[in-house]
Amino acid sequence: MRRRLIAGNWKMNASVDSVRTLLRALSEFQDDSKDVVVFPPAPYLALAVELTKQSQIGVGAQTCAAYESGAYTGEVAASMVHDIGARHVLVGHSERRSLFAENDDAVLAKTQQALAVGLTAYVCVGETLAQRQVGDEQAVVAQQLRRLVTELAPADWQHIVIAYEPVWAIGTGETATPAQAQAMHAFIRSQLQQVSAEVAERTPILYGGSVKAANAEELFSQPDIDGGLVGGASLDAQEFLAICRS
Ligand code: 13P
Repeated sequence: MRRRLIAGNWKMNASVDSVRTLLRALSEFQDDSKDVVVFPPAPYLALAVELTKQSQIGVGAQTCAAYESGAYTGEVAASMVHDIGARHVLVGHSERRSLFAENDDAVLAKTQQALAVGLTAYVCVGETLAQRQVGDEQAVVAQQLRRLVTELAPADWQHIVIAYEPVWAIGTGETATPAQAQAMHAFIRSQLQQVSAEVAERTPILYGGSVKAANAEELFSQPDIDGGLVGGASLDAQEFLAICRS
């Protein structure tokens, strides 16, 4: 049985005040059957770790370097994320892929860096609207998963979460229908069969793209949807808590 997992990606939105306010509100959340993780911008990670110590909220980074350490000005190593007490990291978010030219090689390297230091890697996949319009959505997602499926060891998958985020649904208010999301999640699970039946069965697959309290329940009730990766709505404590309770 897979646990429910709700993740909040704050993207490039935060201040010391907003981190304190949001995490004070979220810290009240208690439900042993679910995991809740927030992904603040890098400068606020240590503060977020400190503020969530007494709660069940986990903290993660929005990306990490593809390298271990050294002369990579501006980069944040996975080991540093782990060192300050965060235990999760997003890898290959579509905004990183499209705005910062992160390709599947970089996604694999970052995932490997994360796994090497004991972080859980949330690898994001998803097609654009143009790709869906020509019926390429499964081929695109299969390609994004291929290097992970072929190069990671089966044991690594204990620390991998897949997030399916159709690019056309991110920040647009347009959500994939529960049926569209379920179909892709089932397809992703079928791809993970190439690693093993156990990995296919156990790996959490989150849906992301305009998740709100109003649509979370229906999305999360699909058999292959294990929770959500929430962007905009995760910046509003009451809205995010309502999604966590879905
Ligand atoms: P929105 O929930 O704002 O559509 O963003 C989704 C997302 O990109 C989460 O990583």
